[in-house]
Amino acid sequence: MDKKTILDYETVDIDLEKKELIIIDQTLLPGKTEIIRLGTAKQMWDAIYLLQVRGAPAIGVFAAMGLYILATQIETDNYVIFYNEFKLQRDYLDSARPTAVNLHWALNRMDRLVQSMENEPVSDILEALKNECLAIKQEDINVCKQIGEYGLSLVKPGDGILTHCNAGQLATCKYGTATAPIYLGHERGYNFRVFADETRPLLQGARLTAYELQSAGVDVTLICDNMSGMVMRNGWVQAVFVGCDRVAANGDTANKIGTSVVAAVAKRYNVPFYVCAPTSTIDMNTPNGAGIRIEQRKPEEVTDMWYKQKMAPEGVKVFNPAFDVTDNDLITAIVTEYGIARAPYTESLKEIFDRKNAK
Ligand code: MRU
Repeated sequence: MDKKTILDYETVDIDLEKKELIIIDQTLLPGKTEIIRLGTAKQMWDAIYLLQVRGAPAIGVFAAMGLYILATQIETDNYVIFYNEFKLQRDYLDSARPTAVNLHWALNRMDRLVQSMENEPVSDILEALKNECLAIKQEDINVCKQIGEYGLSLVKPGDGILTHCNAGQLATCKYGTATAPIYLGHERGYNFRVFADETRPLLQGARLTAYELQSAGVDVTLICDNMSGMVMRNGWVQAVFVGCDRVAANGDTANKIGTSVVAAVAKRYNVPFYVCAPTSTIDMNTPNGAGIRIEQRKPEEVTDMWYKQKMAPEGVKVFNPAFDVTDNDLITAIVTEYGIARAPYTESLKEIFDRKNAK
């Protein structure tokens, strides 16, 4: 019998009977695969903040399922009391991380549903919330597959592909976004050679991307973040695929810290730089990258984490933003589930949403 790999686990799941969320604790990967169950608002908030669950789409699915579970814990038949408590829980989960818009998007989608059922019994609202969070998860799988198909049309067999951070299955419910073309190509014998940036300071590339791609049998080579210039200059990379946490209306894109450096290097060596973006990550209400709030994290992630001993002088000033913004002129195309958008993005992204709304 084939051995179970990390890809055989659900990134985010729900136990509908016990009303618990089930996730892989991603902080322990790749050394340990520990499945954890969460039932309280505090446990859910911590899981998002501590990156036990991470990646924009996965956080969205997690939050929607979490909010449903928290809604079942509200003991009332009265809509007004129910909605007031529901809103408090929604806002609490929404405060866990600021940059990935999917968190807000998924919670808002659940909220809109509750508001549309003002005159219905609370029991019916709960049933609808359950179906909505399950739908959000299924949609994520379909969306990633479609992004994979569009992404695959941009590369050819034997290509070298570089990716940064983890926009893989561990960041979504299946396929990933930036890894979706890689997985689909792998199934179809494309024999890609993938370079995974380790992604300081939290090592999502080393711990997660290299791990999941290797588990799938993909030819993956781990490099330090400061090596992407060399591999591109050597001609080993024909395309960069990255994920994103929020795309502004003009195509400026926030993704894991270091992404903008990769984009600048790719431009220098004429390597196309593709951002894989579910429409749930595109925020047409934010005009440009300047409006995207960037999460700042603890200095210890830079100075201490992963090291046996402190690797920086005590008390040194540390700048530790979790994300950076890649300017739209460095982006060759944005690959969505409704097609591929190219500059000028203010127009092409609108067309993507027109296509979505016409469905
Ligand atoms: O801090 P993380 O690990 O949540 O950051 C994840 C990323 O930056 C991903 O590239 C992004 O969320 C897209 S995941 C499909």
